[in-house]
Amino acid sequence: MAENLIISAGSKEEKYKDLLPQIKGLVTGEPNLMANLANVAAALKETFGFFWVGFYLVEHDELVLGTFQGPIACTRIRKGKGVCGTSWLEDKTLLVPDVDAFPGHIACSSASKSEIVVPIRKYDQVVAVLDVDSDLLNDFDETDQKYLEELMLCVSDCF
Ligand code: SME
Repeated sequence: MAENLIISAGSKEEKYKDLLPQIKGLVTGEPNLMANLANVAAALKETFGFFWVGFYLVEHDELVLGTFQGPIACTRIRKGKGVCGTSWLEDKTLLVPDVDAFPGHIACSSASKSEIVVPIRKYDQVVAVLDVDSDLLNDFDETDQKYLEELMLCVSDCF
């Protein structure tokens, strides 16, 4: 395993393109789920400086907080609640440019202004979601969606 990430000084897309193979290398061969999710959250935080980045894992009818980087966060989210629970229910990525305009948004931190949530699927079932929050409005776009979805395909192999 490499000890340091090599982070592109270029565009967001170049950063994602450089990061993806490094994350694949990080998780390949490591069987422990939490160890892998912890490193993926850390790699995303280190590369992009996101305000909050982490995982919620499906447990019965709730999402339970997993590994993350950022301020403390709510520990349990019901299916269909908030951005995370809606992403799980609808089984799709949600890009939220202004969290205050999202009905039912769960404010773990008042500093969070925009958000992207990407479901992680195993055998066609959502097993977890990746949640990324920014303290800037409208901070995520289709580039984040494309590469975070690709990354979560890789992360689903860890489950
Ligand atoms: N805002 C999320 C809750 C999780 S925190 O942002 C870390 C939501 O509405 O589901």
